Amino acid sequence: MALKKTDKIWMDGKFVDWDDANIHICSHVIHYGTAVFEGMRVYKTHKGPAAFRLKEHVERLLNSAKIYRMDPPFTEKQISDAILETVRVNKMEECYVRPIVFRGYEELGVNPFANPVNVSIIVWPWGKYLGEEALENGVDVCVSTWNRIAPNTLPALAKCGANYMNSQLIKMEAVLSGYVEGIALDNAGYVSEGSGENLFIVRKGMLVTPPLGASVLPGITRDCVINHARDMGIEVIEQIIPREALYIADEVFFTGSAAEITPIRSVDKIKIGPGKRGPVTKKLQERFFGVLSGEVEDRHGWLTMV
Ligand SMILES: Cc1ncc(COP(=O)(O)O)c(C=O)c1O
Repeated sequence: MALKKTDKIWMDGKFVDWDDANIHICSHVIHYGTAVFEGMRVYKTHKGPAAFRLKEHVERLLNSAKIYRMDPPFTEKQISDAILETVRVNKMEECYVRPIVFRGYEELGVNPFANPVNVSIIVWPWGKYLGEEALENGVDVCVSTWNRIAPNTLPALAKCGANYMNSQLIKMEAVLSGYVEGIALDNAGYVSEGSGENLFIVRKGMLVTPPLGASVLPGITRDCVINHARDMGIEVIEQIIPREALYIADEVFFTGSAAEITPIRSVDKIKIGPGKRGPVTKKLQERFFGVLSGEVEDRHGWLTMV
């Protein structure tokens, strides 16, 4: 589905018309993937639009930039304010938000230092990432033949554009084989994450998710689920997960700002539990979406009114 245009894009402090938001072909980012970015959502609550976990997303953006020695010419507050302003200017009630920090145009060698660090913020309406039905019915996924990026190659904790070349290999293979998504194993052969989602399994009432050392992105939705589960008295452990633990789990689900909490109903054509959304996944979804709509108290202060 084509991206739905909005009115304005924020580029280095100025609003530019959507159709004029261009960069030069010699920009470093185009040749070497020199970008770090975020993906977050603004939700429609009964009090108006609210940005979900704005602070954590901007913090992760700046941490990703720090890992790549990029020094954006805007502070954390300026970027946060600009995100809210971009949502307001485009009159969005709910939307996806993509802030991106990238190396622009000056020199085209691998050494990036001569190139400016540019910042842009794009907002657009975006529905359910893995399909409308997916949240209720679950998705069919496979284990990818591609591994996740190995430690000390591309840093997994940084949400860097280049990492998504690995994600694309995982996603394309899955889609061409008739699955909605692929799960990648880490370099040691343990479960890591989906091409754009973290992963949890439920086993005997307990939640298990791979640790940060398993080449996963430190997901903000992952953190929400860990907090919600603990608030609900569900035990959560971060532990390496062998591939076969997926097949014998009671429930498996993905988390992500795009995918939200999406149940997985089969892995490699092996039915997970009864082959539909399980009770723990459902309870976690109800709490998650309850906070987003404003029906469940936002006790962690995760919503920022636009
Ligand atoms: C590779 C990868 N893992 C996990 C996630 C989930 O992270 P978050 O919940 O912060 O969106 C994403 C989405 O950004 C992702 O791209």
